[in-house]
Amino acid sequence: MELEIINLYSNESIRDTGLIGDHGQSFLFKTKENQILLDVGAKGDILLHNMRILGIEPNDIDKLILSHGHYDHTGGLPEFLDARTEPIEIIAHPSLFEKKRIKMLLFTKYIGVPDLTDEQRTKMNITLSKVPKEIIPGLFTTGEIGDRGEKDGSEPTAQHFVDGEWKIDPVWDDISVILATKEGHVVVTGCSHAGILNILNHTKKQYDQPIKAVIGGTHMVRYSHSEVEDTGNLFLNKYDNPELYLNHCTDKLPTKLIRQTPSTKILKDLLGEKVRECKVGTSLIYNI
Ligand SMILES: [Fe+2]
Repeated sequence: MELEIINLYSNESIRDTGLIGDHGQSFLFKTKENQILLDVGAKGDILLHNMRILGIEPNDIDKLILSHGHYDHTGGLPEFLDARTEPIEIIAHPSLFEKKRIKMLLFTKYIGVPDLTDEQRTKMNITLSKVPKEIIPGLFTTGEIGDRGEKDGSEPTAQHFVDGEWKIDPVWDDISVILATKEGHVVVTGCSHAGILNILNHTKKQYDQPIKAVIGGTHMVRYSHSEVEDTGNLFLNKYDNPELYLNHCTDKLPTKLIRQTPSTKILKDLLGEKVRECKVGTSLIYNI
């Protein structure tokens, strides 16, 4: 069966398409029979605009997977639900609805799932699971990435509210999607807070199949140059030299003082044509 993956929301869009790029993530998985969404981006108006241009009708989406609770993956939820007449099954990790915030010296910003009205809530049939779930034949969630032997994407300023206090958030709710294609497994990530190498390790352990491709955000924003290179070498030598369609949180944050080489460029120099950008409007087809 043919499955098309379309990027509906990420930081950049393909030029001259009318599609809008914005910080966030959303992918559509489309087969003849089903349309599954992973994440809804940060802003519902941008998500719905991009869906309109790509000819995707919100009511035609069968299920929604939320990769984790951060606003840039869940912020579009109110408008997405408003645009539907029918309820939708939402699949996520049990920690999805934890309160989350960014805390710096004088600055605090809420970054969790947005507030929802009662009417919007009635349109959500929520399935929360720590373990992998088969969504349609050949398309699975990873479940919680519990084994984090490699660097993960937790940050000292990103906190969650648990046991009555704010603590550094390991983002246990971070899950990804696995496609079992005829040529190996395709891993589609939201933000990879669990650490992209931990996610790949989890996938290999679970299925013992070659990794065909990695698509999405790989959260290398705070990796050093050599950490990105080390990760690239492990993609090559341990994880089957997959195709890499990268976006969102892959490149390091630009700073005014230090010019940093984007992670995507470092990986391109190392791995060549295997590395591509994944912008809004990118379409990839696999056989599952
Ligand atoms: Fe993100």
